[in-house]
Amino acid sequence: MTTKIFAHRGASKYAPENTLPAFELVYQMKADGIETDVQLTKDNVPILIHDEHVKRTTNGRGYVKDLTFAQLKTLDAGSWFSKKYSNTQLPSLKEFLDWAKHKPLYLNIELKNNKIDYKDLEMIVYEMLKEYQLLERTTLSTFNPESVKRMKDINRSIGVAFLTSKKNKHLIYDAKELGANAIHIKYRLLNQLLVDEAHQKKMKVRVYTVNKYPSIKRCFDVGCDGIFTDVPDIAFKYKQEKF
Ligand code: G3P
Ligand code: CA
Repeated sequence: MTTKIFAHRGASKYAPENTLPAFELVYQMKADGIETDVQLTKDNVPILIHDEHVKRTTNGRGYVKDLTFAQLKTLDAGSWFSKKYSNTQLPSLKEFLDWAKHKPLYLNIELKNNKIDYKDLEMIVYEMLKEYQLLERTTLSTFNPESVKRMKDINRSIGVAFLTSKKNKHLIYDAKELGANAIHIKYRLLNQLLVDEAHQKKMKVRVYTVNKYPSIKRCFDVGCDGIFTDVPDIAFKYKQEKF
């Protein structure tokens, strides 16, 4: 099985991250999947945005948790990136799933609950994926170990990944104890032994955020199960040349 290419926040080098234009490009660039981030609005609507605060990627102010879905929908999530994308809206998870449902893409939905532990985020996202019948091709990931456990308590068979940027000799053991099926690691943690050990223990290894050609090559060479990249076109070019 070859390494799968996940576009990180969509094709985020070329369009505003976590928006529909960035997702459309992924499809054109022939990535295998999309990684995106979900937070919860004041009125409990799952919405795709990386930061807890809207300042960096919109023209608004305030925390996602303090704004209603209607308020968040009025924000411009594209102009910060380029005028070309002015008035692009933040997509809800539902809008994203409507778009992804009939496309042959794997999904990685990262629950952004390591800084703000949104109540019931796991169940809200799970129920939506179930309704859309997308659980089979979706991995849910989080930096929050308690959230990994909560997801596994909801349904043992869903694909859950524990995300980490921290060195830990017992990472695979710890992730398995939580119930995770995969580890999603920062590139600097990658080594062949880790990948081999994970595979022996039937766990997948995916790596973020891999944008340079030599790093992409290394991930393929050591047998990673997936990479998260802002430049899925470059990763696809490498894959085409190699295989
Ligand atoms: O899911 C991989 C990666 O996206 C985790 O880090 O900060 O880009 O969400 P971050
Ligand atoms: Ca992410």
